[in-house]
Amino acid sequence: MDLEKLRHQALEDLKTIKDPAPLEIWRIKYLGRKSELSRFLRSLADLSLEERRALGPKANGLRQELEELYDKKAVLLKAKSYQLKAFDITRPGRKISRGHLHPLTLVENEVKEIFRNLNFSIVEGPELETEYYNFDALNIPQDHPARDMWDTLYVKNQKSKIKNQNEGGLLMRTHTSPVQIRYMEKHQPPFQIIVPGRVFRHEATDASHEVNFHQFEGLMVGKDVSLANFKFVVMEFFKKFFKKPIEFRIRPSYFPFTEPSVEVDVRFGQLSNVSAQGGSASGGKGQWLEIMGAGMVHPKVFEAVKYPSTGSGRVQGFAFGAGIERLAMIKYKIPDIRLFYSSDLRFIRQF
Ligand code: PHE
Repeated sequence: MDLEKLRHQALEDLKTIKDPAPLEIWRIKYLGRKSELSRFLRSLADLSLEERRALGPKANGLRQELEELYDKKAVLLKAKSYQLKAFDITRPGRKISRGHLHPLTLVENEVKEIFRNLNFSIVEGPELETEYYNFDALNIPQDHPARDMWDTLYVKNQKSKIKNQNEGGLLMRTHTSPVQIRYMEKHQPPFQIIVPGRVFRHEATDASHEVNFHQFEGLMVGKDVSLANFKFVVMEFFKKFFKKPIEFRIRPSYFPFTEPSVEVDVRFGQLSNVSAQGGSASGGKGQWLEIMGAGMVHPKVFEAVKYPSTGSGRVQGFAFGAGIERLAMIKYKIPDIRLFYSSDLRFIRQF
C-alpha cells in the first residue's frame, strides 16, 4: 500500500471541492469505513511486528491529517454557504443609534469655549447657597426691597448644614452671582472668570419662565478694567456665538451689586415669541431682546471680599450674567423655554 500516493491523491481531490456534497463523497472515499486507508489500518493487525512498527504510525498519521483537512474544509464551506444566503452586501446597514448632547449642554459648551479663547477661566459654585452669598455679600441686605427682584426658593433650615451661622438661611441660588464672592474670597486680581450653572426662581412657569434655568456669570477684575473692556468682550462673544453680525445695545439698568448697571439687548429679525426672563422685549422693526445684566462691580462687593477699593492697590472690574436658555432660544428659534425640560424626544433629537 503506497501511503504517499494515497495522500497525494486525497489532497489533490480535496482542492477541487467547492460544495458540501462532494466533500461528503470525499470523506467516504478516503476516511469511510470501507476506504482504502481504513481497510489498511484494520489489516495492520495481521502484519509482523516490524511491519506494524514501520507502517502503523504513518497510516495513523495520514488518517489524522485527512480528518483535520476535512474538518477545516467543512467549516469553510459552511461559512461560505451561510454568507451567500444571509449576507447581501448591497443592503443598507442598520443605523447605529448613539446618544448625543442636550441643546443646553451644547450651548453651555460653546459659551465656555468662546470665553476660554478670550483667556477666561471656567469656575463653578454650589447650587444650594446661603443668604449671605446670594444676597448680603452682593449688597442686598435682608430688608432691602431689591431682594424682590429674585423670587427665591428658601430651603427649610438645617442648621447643621450651615458651617457659619452668620451666613443666614439656606436657599437655592437665584443667580450665579454668589460665585463672584466665593471666587474673590480665595483669589486675588487680576483675573477673568466665567461661571456656568443652574439657578432657581420661585416663579410661575410660562413660555419664557422656568423654575430652574441656567446662567453664566462673567467677572473680570484688575487695575483698570472698564466698561469699554466689557463692551469688547460681549461684542466678541456675540460675534462668535451667533456667527453673524448682530445689532446690540447697552442701556442703563439697576442691580445692587453693580454701579453703574446696564442691560444688554440684541436685535433679531423674525423672532416673536421669545421674551426675557424677568423682563420684556420692546417692539419696533425686529425685536430688542434683553440678554444679560451687567455693570461695574460695586465697591460694597469688593468690600465684602476685602479687596482694596481705594489707594494704590485699588482694583475695579465688570460683571455680567446671562441666561443660557435665552441664548439657546434665540440661536435655535425655540419658542418655549419649557421644551428644554420636557424630555420630548421630537424636540431633543433635532440637535
Ligand atoms: N445676577 C443678575 C441676575 O440674575 C445678573 C447680573 C450679573 C447683573 C452680574 C449684573 C452683574 O439678574
